[in-house]
Amino acid sequence: MPNLNIKVTQSHRALRIWLLVNIALIFLMVLVGGLTRLTGSGLSMVDWQPLLGTLPPLNQESWEKVFQQYQLFPQYQKVNLGMSLQDFKAIFYWEYFHRLLGRLIGLVYLLPLIYFHIKGNLSSSLKKQLNIGFVLGGLQGLLGWYMVKSGLVNNPHVSHFRLAAHLGLAFFVSAYLFWIYLDTDNRNCFKKPNLAPLTTLSLLSCTLIFQIIYGAFTAGLKAGMIYNTFPKMNGAWTPFEWVELTPFYKNFIYDLGGIQWVHRTTAWLLLLLVIYLSSYIKDYKSTPRLLKSVYIFISLFILQFLLGVMTLLTQVKIHWASMHQLGAFLLILSLTNLWFQFLKPQK
Ligand code: HEM
Ligand code: HEM
Repeated sequence: MPNLNIKVTQSHRALRIWLLVNIALIFLMVLVGGLTRLTGSGLSMVDWQPLLGTLPPLNQESWEKVFQQYQLFPQYQKVNLGMSLQDFKAIFYWEYFHRLLGRLIGLVYLLPLIYFHIKGNLSSSLKKQLNIGFVLGGLQGLLGWYMVKSGLVNNPHVSHFRLAAHLGLAFFVSAYLFWIYLDTDNRNCFKKPNLAPLTTLSLLSCTLIFQIIYGAFTAGLKAGMIYNTFPKMNGAWTPFEWVELTPFYKNFIYDLGGIQWVHRTTAWLLLLLVIYLSSYIKDYKSTPRLLKSVYIFISLFILQFLLGVMTLLTQVKIHWASMHQLGAFLLILSLTNLWFQFLKPQK
């Protein structure tokens, strides 16, 4: 993460608000992206015109045309055969809105960025960090299209690996911008906290990232639709079909039961790490912001765990799944804050 070490000036207030606005828009984008997936709308737009495609079809004739184009692809032929134009419009609009919002974020980021470059009195390192943010956002758009392409083929589902990358980069960009946001605040406090739990925190962070990747695998392969019991999987601790794929490791990256098992088991492991981290709480009395960050993180984690269980028990009811996804987003921001408060404690 960047080490900006800059003085906060008046113009940084505007900059910090702008960063928060962008993070909020990405949050919305994650919500709409998740709903695009959960409503099965992800492959309804079969081409990509970054600039020309800004407007949706505006008359009956052009609707018929995009619908006909869609009918040439396997998703229509294998999943949605016989779909009416009305139903097609519904799935089209989710994907359309997702991409429109992507363009909007691009503009909301880029235009003020140019302004800040000209007027902002920013250090050159901060300028560089903000430019990197723009590049990462652009990459996310490219990755979106790369993922769509993986589903326009014979097997009409997007690749779960590419979905995980698309979700992961969205989370990463937000964490990155949030770090810059925290770093442009000058409430430094010079009391160093006890850094002993940093090893636990590192392990916890890696495990959490792994868990999010497996969450996206679970979502991408619809692996939450089976074994809808908790804590056991239909009466057993491991999925019954486990030995079907060879070599054995393939059960962990392609098999629905195996992937769900990893996601569940990692949740327990994370819980242990969170409990261990909380045993340090008494050491943070002199750094109240850090203490608060720990409490927020633990609360969000417990909430996320419960939301996961609800998502599973309801066989992925759309509102639970959507909240579970947004919970992961907030957990990542909270983790970013926790790291920041450890490394650069604030008053
Ligand atoms: C700022 C840019 C973008 C952000 C932050 C973003 C973020 C996301 C997120 C978080 C999801 C949900 C993933 C999940 O549930 O695991 C998603 C889904 C999706 N995104 Fe994006 N996205 C962006 C741009 C794009 C673009 C430009 C395209 C296409 C050209 C695209 C295509 C899709 C599709 C098709 C889905 C649904 C995947 C499915 O059906 O399984 N995204 N996006
Ligand atoms: C506690 C830490 C947890 C984290 C950080 C986490 C994170 C995630 C993430 C990021 C996704 C992908 C969402 C998406 O791509 O849109 C996901 C999906 C999922 N998670 Fe979790 N999860 C956790 C715990 C659990 C638990 C304890 C369960 C149930 C036992 C669970 C069940 C599920 C299910 C069923 C899905 C698929 C939902 C869908 O198809 O939309 N999760 N998780």
